[in-house]
Amino acid sequence: MNMGKTLLLLIFSMSLVACSSANSQEKLVLDSYEKDQHRTLEEIIDNLLSNKLLVPIGEVPIQKDNLMTPEVLELGKILFFDPRLSGNNEVSCQTCHDPKLGYGDGKPTFTRIDGTNGLRNSSTIINSGYYTTLFWDGRASSLEEQALGPIQDPGEMNQPLDELVEKLQAIEGYEEIFLTAFDDGITLENIATALAAFQRLIVVNETRFDQFLKGDRNALSPEEIRGLDLFAGKAFCITCHHGENLSDNEYYNLGLTSDDKGRFAVTGEERDLGRVRTPSLYGITHTAPYMRDGSIDTLEEVIEFYNRGGDDHSNKSMFMKMFMSELHLSEQEKADLLAFLEVLGGEPPMFVQPDLPGFK
Ligand code: HEC
Ligand code: HEC
Repeated sequence: MNMGKTLLLLIFSMSLVACSSANSQEKLVLDSYEKDQHRTLEEIIDNLLSNKLLVPIGEVPIQKDNLMTPEVLELGKILFFDPRLSGNNEVSCQTCHDPKLGYGDGKPTFTRIDGTNGLRNSSTIINSGYYTTLFWDGRASSLEEQALGPIQDPGEMNQPLDELVEKLQAIEGYEEIFLTAFDDGITLENIATALAAFQRLIVVNETRFDQFLKGDRNALSPEEIRGLDLFAGKAFCITCHHGENLSDNEYYNLGLTSDDKGRFAVTGEERDLGRVRTPSLYGITHTAPYMRDGSIDTLEEVIEFYNRGGDDHSNKSMFMKMFMSELHLSEQEKADLLAFLEVLGGEPPMFVQPDLPGFK
């Protein structure tokens, strides 16, 4: 089913909401999908290549006042790996965003500096530079704005910011490194700028999916093509995971059973209860466990979750209730969808800890 048709169908179905049950609308969508089953692979490819919601990911956007010079990037890398940015000198950004664990921490929810379990899953840093808002609830709007948050957060790095500049000044060699990058040496703003710049290097943006979208019809196997076709059609994934980073930067409640208030904490609006930002799917094979509470261990189980229409929550998003209450994917279709998701995993760059100033 091509996207134009899907959208028309959706609009048509939406208009029926008032007088019809969700089940009959799903039947409508499924019937139409059945009719499309006899297309050739070439027809499916033509269809996908003309889908406006599928766009190859470009270069990561840069804030206009962030220079991204080699010196700034090197400083950002040092800061990212330096545990002395934390109050007890033991926790660095790497602790929860480890390159070897897909720039997350591999745990369902993060471990607070006092050893207790945090509320949320450590987001991966991969492709965070592409989002228009950051964090699961979108409470920051740029990597620059975000960077000082975890440093001062009492649960994360617990380092009072008003002492941080002096603390770094006292470490032999730090001032010199800052001065190679910035005229005014160590400042909070420069710390944030350098961390943000470095994180923009942590990207997955050259997958075979992108080669395919740029016109290489042989970049994906037939199985992966069928998976992408499901992603953009019968399985509805594209509704939210679309655009160049496969995130619409909007907020939804998939019905995860969780007390997390999500976007509500930012807007105070009831409709945002439990909603979180659609995550990108680039790098996805490296970042298990999944979801904001890390409650799903594998991509197979994520597919099962969507196939059964998500779980229950009083504020579950309308779209999930109406169109995804059951997807009726066959075993073959689940395997195809998985094969496509695995293409998005790509190869994240592997940064290792550089020499940190002041250590002999
Ligand atoms: C103790 C664990 C911990 C530490 C240390 C930590 N983070 Fe995080 N980070 C998290 C968690 C948990 C989230 C998700 C929080 C949320 O959404 O409320 C997150 C989210 C982020 C995001 C948002 C990604 C997205 O998709 O929106 C960025 C960027 C980030 N962290 C960067 C950093 C940087 C830079 C540092 C070091 C200065 C750092 N983090 C230190 C746990 C940590
Ligand atoms: C209604 C919007 C919407 C639709 C449709 C949708 N997603 Fe999602 N997706 C989200 C949101 C929002 C999250 C995060 C949910 C949470 O943690 O509460 C998410 C999370 C995920 C994750 C885990 C990402 C991570 O970093 O933890 C994967 C994988 C995923 N979706 C794949 C899919 C696939 C495959 C489909 C189609 C079967 C799909 N999504 C359909 C909005 C959507």
